Amino acid sequence: MMYAHRPTEVEIDLAALRHNYALLRQQLPASVGVLAVVKADAYGHGAIAVARTLQQSGADLFGVAIAEEGLELRRAGVTRPVLMLGGAWPGQEEIVLENDFQTSVFDVEQLQRLQQAAERADRFCDCHLKIDSGMGRLGVLPEALPAFLDQLKRFSRIRLVGVMTHLAMADCVDHPHNRHQINQFRVCVAQLRAAGFSPRYIHAANSAASFSLADDLWTLARPGIVLYGGQPFAGTSALPLRPVMHFHTQIAHLKWLQPGHSVSYGQTFVARRPTLLAAIPVGYADGFNRLLSSQAEVLIRGQRAPVAGRICMDWTLVDVTDVEGVQPYDRVTLLGCDGDCCLYAEEWAEKIGTISYEVFCQVSKRVPRVYLGAETP
Ligand SMILES: Cc1ncc(COP(=O)(O)O)c(C=O)c1O
Repeated sequence: MMYAHRPTEVEIDLAALRHNYALLRQQLPASVGVLAVVKADAYGHGAIAVARTLQQSGADLFGVAIAEEGLELRRAGVTRPVLMLGGAWPGQEEIVLENDFQTSVFDVEQLQRLQQAAERADRFCDCHLKIDSGMGRLGVLPEALPAFLDQLKRFSRIRLVGVMTHLAMADCVDHPHNRHQINQFRVCVAQLRAAGFSPRYIHAANSAASFSLADDLWTLARPGIVLYGGQPFAGTSALPLRPVMHFHTQIAHLKWLQPGHSVSYGQTFVARRPTLLAAIPVGYADGFNRLLSSQAEVLIRGQRAPVAGRICMDWTLVDVTDVEGVQPYDRVTLLGCDGDCCLYAEEWAEKIGTISYEVFCQVSKRVPRVYLGAETP
């Protein structure tokens, strides 16, 4: 039976996704491919719809964090190569081979497991060697590379199709650490070639680096956040991206409170004037971060209205005293635009000391994603 869900939902604007992809594509040389990063359910936007859309737009590969995310793409009919950015856990080698995943590798024990599984399946395993050029996370350190390459040569079933690194400071264009990492990576790629390897994919650039740190060595870009309309640079320089996620609800309940009446848990908001208060059915369980209590604003009838008091698990209260003509069931925008007025994830992020990535990822599973602008095949 069909039934109406509560009005809290996110609209995912696939036309905006295509626009952002096209902007990125324009920026890159034609010889450079795109691995679209769709891990974490495409940063909360829904990996299946995002990957299908980007596959149509021409994305060459997809990047996931874990095997389960890759499986979801395959089950949804995504046929392009999928790279497991975080490598394969022990016991996942068969999943890698059966689904034709590519996987990052950064230690010898991983190579052994993949080699054995590939022998058993009589297949080859396509791998990307991850170099730690200065991120201090996953990857073979440059000083350990010669020994690693000596080992790698012994694994006949491992095909080195890629070599990659990840930049720690790419969002600060002029930071000297970028140059340091890029130079380290160059030296490593030269060593790799000298050892007889010739990987097709050489990649380092996330979104920020794709727009600011061109290097003629790279054959693949690895963008995530810009596809979703998030600004990649710290500070102000804004790219003409379009937000893909629009977070909406409606006013459930409207009432006047007299001065002195407190609002929500902890009584952190007390009406100083006769206050028209709107209850909206969205809370921190939906991803409206509790740290935004009395900090965030929402859009109603094309204007901003402040959150009053603590955000609850399922409810938020908004002071709508100054919103002329406000009515029950009026549309409320938490992220996205209402007329000319827009709220971006960066605004939330700045208020609560995080990044737009986390704002998107926190919009919980409970909030239905509604897809707009799908292209008919
Ligand atoms: C290894 C790797 N490459 C690329 C990306 C994409 O980064 P961004 O979303 O900044 O473009 C990420 C995201 O965290 C990542 O972990």
